[in-house]
Amino acid sequence: MILETKNLEFSYPDGTKAIDDISITIPEGKKVSFVGKNGSGKSTLFLLLNGTLKPKSGKVLLDGKEVNYSASGLRELRKKVGIVFQNSDDQLFAPTVYQDIGFGPLNLGYSKEEVGEIVGKMLDHFGLQAIKDKPPHHLSGGQKKRVAIAGVLAMDPDIIILDEPLSNLDPVGADEILDILNELNDLGKTIIISTHDVDLAYKWSDYVYLLADSKLVDEGSSGAVFSKEEQVRNSSLKSPFIFDVYKELEKRWLATGNEQPKDIPELVQTLRSIDLMRVEVNPEIKVGECVNLGVLFGDFTQEGLYEAVNSRVLFRNDDGTAVVELKRRVLKPGAIYVYDMDNFDREEFDKIIEEYDIDFIGAMGKKSKDTAESNGINVVCNSGVIDKSILNAITGSRCLILTSEGMVSHTMKRVREYIQNSGIRLIFSPVGKSAAEIGEEQNK
Ligand SMILES: Nc1ncnc2c1ncn2[C@@H]1O[C@H](COP(=O)(O)OP(=O)(O)O)[C@@H](O)[C@H]1O
Ligand SMILES: [Mg+2]
Repeated sequence: MILETKNLEFSYPDGTKAIDDISITIPEGKKVSFVGKNGSGKSTLFLLLNGTLKPKSGKVLLDGKEVNYSASGLRELRKKVGIVFQNSDDQLFAPTVYQDIGFGPLNLGYSKEEVGEIVGKMLDHFGLQAIKDKPPHHLSGGQKKRVAIAGVLAMDPDIIILDEPLSNLDPVGADEILDILNELNDLGKTIIISTHDVDLAYKWSDYVYLLADSKLVDEGSSGAVFSKEEQVRNSSLKSPFIFDVYKELEKRWLATGNEQPKDIPELVQTLRSIDLMRVEVNPEIKVGECVNLGVLFGDFTQEGLYEAVNSRVLFRNDDGTAVVELKRRVLKPGAIYVYDMDNFDREEFDKIIEEYDIDFIGAMGKKSKDTAESNGINVVCNSGVIDKSILNAITGSRCLILTSEGMVSHTMKRVREYIQNSGIRLIFSPVGKSAAEIGEEQNK
């Protein structure tokens, strides 16, 4: 069931132009809001959509067919497009709740039994059984609204239009009505509301039409329509409250990542986990720049075995210190492998580089350096190899130390001692043909 208007125009008898060239296609099965300040034309448009008013020019179309304003044509339209007025007293007129809800179905020609069945269902559904014999004008605002919605739903329309459905309701009553609207939408009904409450329209709607001065200003997803600040301001509305909260948090580095949170849980997800520290920094470093603070391991990490700690400078103090926000990044555990060049084997060596994902090669001793060079191996380090390998490994690199003869066991011993003394956990092992041999010797 698709409801459309084409170049719709309407003026009241006193000459007030209330609808000016409005063309819309209501998206089927969606929650749709018409947003605009008082007097922008929302109520008039709704009365045109269900045929209560007749356009001066332009058309209203239901399922592609132009509305026929004869009595039977209007009955047809109103069976499919139900309207709930802003003021329930304009809607409810029967002596009892029961009769009010039954009025529509009775008018559609249902038998008394059928009407009884429909009304019974509505009374159950909306929790109105206990007050079914009361006169509607004795009810609370929320109860009246539920009776009015039940009365419209009793005709089983595909599209339900509600003019300012939450106005004059207390917060709990308003939530109850919203729950009903969401439920009806889940059941497949297209729900159209009008409101000047931007927070409501923003969080509730799938699709928003923005009206100002009787004209359509914009339409689209609620995020798209409300994120255009100037347009919202020019329409005498405000940005949704949650946008402003997000923006202020973001300005202060407290939130990031989603400029259009829909609700409080989504807003909370944007909050940064604040990890601030005061450190001494180089005088050239400016606010916003990054400083590397080194690597944490073991008990000091939060997520991995190793974490690189980078930081962003938030404030600079006069005394040479700065407040920085820590950013931890998990590093893969580093590794040190030791290869005996006395037993160099090209094929095996290439396999080791590949299999162990080596990214740093160091060579120790003249013999292993020469062997490496004559075999075209790219050695990136040939002095202080053990220390550099350890330093690289603790920041996540995978190092291969090429060594030979007596240096093999010296290397193994040094690295092992370092690991034991520091408590750092590294992958550490001899590799290649002589690996088992080296291991045995070490265990002596
Ligand atoms: N019965 C009426 N007679 C004359 N002008 C009206 C009547 N009802 C509304 N208007 C005017 O039509 C314009 C649109 O009003 P309305 O559709 O009620 O807007 P909204 O529902 O957005 O507040 C306003 O300028 C309003 O003053
Ligand atoms: Mg209105």
